[in-house]
Amino acid sequence: MTIADSIPIWLDCDPGNDDAFAILLAAFHPKFNLLGISTVYGNAPNSSTTHNALALLDVLGAEQDQIKVYSGENKPLVKPVKFAPEIHGATGIGGAKLPKTPRIKESTDQTYLQAMRSAILEHAGKICVICTGTLTNMAILIETYPEVKSKIRFVSIMGGALNKGNATKYAEFNVHCDPLAAANVLHDESLSGKTILAGLNITHKALATMEVRKNMYDETNPKKNSHVRKLFYDIAMFYAESYRVQHNITLGPPIHDPLAVFLLLALVNKQEDLADNVDFKYIKRKLKVIQEGEREGETQIANGDLDELKEEENGVYVGLNVNVELFWSYVLKALDNAEHHVANYNQNSSM
Ligand code: RIB
Ligand code: CA
Repeated sequence: MTIADSIPIWLDCDPGNDDAFAILLAAFHPKFNLLGISTVYGNAPNSSTTHNALALLDVLGAEQDQIKVYSGENKPLVKPVKFAPEIHGATGIGGAKLPKTPRIKESTDQTYLQAMRSAILEHAGKICVICTGTLTNMAILIETYPEVKSKIRFVSIMGGALNKGNATKYAEFNVHCDPLAAANVLHDESLSGKTILAGLNITHKALATMEVRKNMYDETNPKKNSHVRKLFYDIAMFYAESYRVQHNITLGPPIHDPLAVFLLLALVNKQEDLADNVDFKYIKRKLKVIQEGEREGETQIANGDLDELKEEENGVYVGLNVNVELFWSYVLKALDNAEHHVANYNQNSSM
């Protein structure tokens, strides 16, 4: 794999226990080329999500500016801000032992909006924008620089769901935090037809079961006792306990965010063999985001009168199922690659 064959990606995220796995997959699997990160409030205040992104890149052996990190918005467009310490802990990435003062510093040479626009224009027609946090940054980007919409290959969003919620019984957290931003993105007819929604319907198929977690780090198998493996194992274990306590999900936590990265393989550069293996099951429908009332933040099918299986040209790819075994093999491959990279980085640093 050369960089030329990999999918250029910009990741907008709120690290975030599961966002950490999205960073891992995007940065360390050769199918993807992570160009940059923008952070947003959500799981924790933006100051924490930015710190967590920098600290993760530090531990993962990144060099300064190798993957630039730009700090984004710290509150929704209109709603009061809220966070999720009950799921992601007080730091925003519970369970992770991360450097308090990362050697990687946030980039301030331009705003996150200018950085996203530059990356999109530089990789026009190929770049995919992944959103695994609230959609506030993305909504402001397309309002400030509408010219980027035609240059984006796909937008892949972890958020929303059909007939399922986690923030409320109707609404998923990323959408519920800022339903107006979510509507401005998901209703945009220049984008909706090339938007993938990795919502709860599909992410709850990708549970980090104890078997998956043992493949990350098996305490009975010394060769897997690297710091990187322990870090991601601890992040997954903390998330598992949060989901056990808060949602009574005991088999393992849905690791939502890396699916928004992985699903690109089903639709980008449609390599038939790979697309078939990903086995992405979806419906392609226009969505509406409910703005107020008991169902605030719910994502619904806009034209409910149409046959459910009818594909709408400007419809969003609403994820329903995927080859979960292949997904985990990609995440674990990225973890292998990260482990080898960090070992080399630490060896070179000690010389
Ligand atoms: O509802 C799950 C989503 O909200 C995930 O992206 C998680 O990290 C939080 O941002
Ligand atoms: Ca997230």
